[in-house]
Amino acid sequence: MNYPYQIKSYEQYKADYKKSIEQPEAFWAEIATHFTWRKKWDKVLEWNFTEPKIEWFKGGKLNITENCIDRHLATMGDKPAIIWEPNNPEERVRIVTYNRLHKRVCQFAQVLLNNGVKKGDRVCIYMGMVPELAYAVLGCARIGAIHSVIFGGFSAQSIADRLDDAQAEFIVTCDGAYRGEKVIPLKSVIDDALVGNKTIKRVIVYTRTRTPISMIKGRDVWWEDEMEYAEHQVEKDGIVSLPAVEMDAEDPLFILYTSGSTGKPKGVVHSTAGYMIWTNYTFINTFQYNKGDVHFCTADIGWITGHSYIVYGPLSAGATSLMFEGIPTYPDAGRFWDIVEKHKVNILYTAPTAIRSLMSFGLVPLGGKDLSSLKILGTVGEPINEEAWHWYDENVGKKKCPIVDTWWQTETGGCLITNLAGVTPAKPSWATLPMPGVQPILVDEKGEEVTEKDENGVIKGNLCIKAPWPSILRTTYGDHERCRTNYFATYPNLYFTGDGALKDEEGFYRITGRVDDVLNVSGHRIGTAEVENALNMHSGIVESAVVGYPHDIKGQGIYAFVICNHFHGGEEQTRKDILQTITRVIGAIAKPDKIQFVNGLPKTRSGKIMRRILRKIAEGETGSIGDTSTLLDPNIVDDIVQGRL
Ligand code: WTA
Repeated sequence: MNYPYQIKSYEQYKADYKKSIEQPEAFWAEIATHFTWRKKWDKVLEWNFTEPKIEWFKGGKLNITENCIDRHLATMGDKPAIIWEPNNPEERVRIVTYNRLHKRVCQFAQVLLNNGVKKGDRVCIYMGMVPELAYAVLGCARIGAIHSVIFGGFSAQSIADRLDDAQAEFIVTCDGAYRGEKVIPLKSVIDDALVGNKTIKRVIVYTRTRTPISMIKGRDVWWEDEMEYAEHQVEKDGIVSLPAVEMDAEDPLFILYTSGSTGKPKGVVHSTAGYMIWTNYTFINTFQYNKGDVHFCTADIGWITGHSYIVYGPLSAGATSLMFEGIPTYPDAGRFWDIVEKHKVNILYTAPTAIRSLMSFGLVPLGGKDLSSLKILGTVGEPINEEAWHWYDENVGKKKCPIVDTWWQTETGGCLITNLAGVTPAKPSWATLPMPGVQPILVDEKGEEVTEKDENGVIKGNLCIKAPWPSILRTTYGDHERCRTNYFATYPNLYFTGDGALKDEEGFYRITGRVDDVLNVSGHRIGTAEVENALNMHSGIVESAVVGYPHDIKGQGIYAFVICNHFHGGEEQTRKDILQTITRVIGAIAKPDKIQFVNGLPKTRSGKIMRRILRKIAEGETGSIGDTSTLLDPNIVDDIVQGRL
């Protein structure tokens, strides 16, 4: 058998699910025995959601890199761990075997030690999608440093905020990154982020694009030089070694910032053992991974999907993970299919927004591409509409590949609700069933369980989870109270996801989208408050309100209503200036698709902005936009409707 805990039938799923709920400790203890521990745990689970305090495998000692690398070396040392496909298809592919990965990770861990990084220190990683990014992440884990990867699309200001929040002293970056036709000047963005910064001790720079960059003496060092020096330290007589630091099961592994309904991103903290076991278990079961399969997750490692299903899940399973540097439309919209053909990809995991964008190019880019290696398809990040689901099924999977619709979040560490490929039933646009160990519940505004069904037998409510699974977030960095109020205080004794969901008579779940003030734009979470804060920083803007509206490709677009008292150079120029402000403050990913200048915003007498009304206007609602009688000035609404974009 491939993996002892791989679920092979619907019956087995039901039996495992039942056991996981009735005897969670016995269930997870059995799975945990299949990993490498320095010392066994004393207690499988202790928890309460009031503080919250969640501890899995307490007392256990391990290092996640021994599980992701060392334990595979004897049997699979020469098998590919990472296949790297460059942005430019003409450039050489890099195949990193487990042996090579081991060497590079040990070497980079040594580089970190040489530069003064210690267990528990925070290391910010701001790189493009090169194998060195995986070495950096795993190098941190090897010595117990906490990595905080920041997606390459965030601005200097966002980086500065995150560095400050995490109290980071070290940065690993690249000179630049290739993305399609563009070169993103990563180091120069870091330099901007570091103006006035006194806490960063070292910046390690990997050379990718050879973009001219500034290198500050005493602070900035080249990756290549450091690696060369470290090579002699970790390799003796052809034997590579760098002892992995022994970690507690509950020691933090990483921080990843994500947007919420408040203005400031939160540093979600994941722990070591629980995260490892969950990403491994869900990877093997959701995708029904078989040894030797090539798994292609198209996400960026700057997001949780890349952490869990490019790095930790696949590598802990001894899998071959394909890492792609570029974008789906470069050099043309057939790039994914070229990659599938070239590397005989077996599992393709992408976002609905990518599928919709590729759909818009029609079938020509798929013509003549051999996709016969594909066995399983997956989606993540946002609800998938039925049209996109069928397009994916027919044209990519040729109706032969099960599609898994995986619902999860940065905070959950890995998939919570999903079908298991070919094992449990699929239903287009439904994430379907919970993973073993996951207990969803739908509640109303008051936190009461919803049991009332509509005429189709469907229940609708806010999605919460009743008990912890191994990779639930443990805290938000530096502010545990924030973690409590955000996730555990809305409904007592429940983890609140922020999503709305439906449940049908078979117990299948369909995620309908966020019910808080968080948008999901191209599968990326963006808080409306965060965008508003950034808009309000623009010198001409007095006040703003941001809402989402349905967007054919992005899923949701960003619609900004702004009161502006100074149009320098006219409205069009001001719009451009505003977009530039957003790009500076957050990053290009948060740029509004539409900016409507208004004279006032609909407010209640107590001064609260009525977003419900703005949402309806943005959605293009032509009929009634609801009760406006509680508004301070109902006429404002007519004006806004008139000026709708
Ligand atoms: C949404 C990404 C519907 C949801 C892994 C969630 C989904 C947010 C799905 C988390 C799905 C993710 N169907 N919606 N299969 N997967 N979402 O933290 O709103 O970037 O709360 O994690 O994406 O986004 P995040």
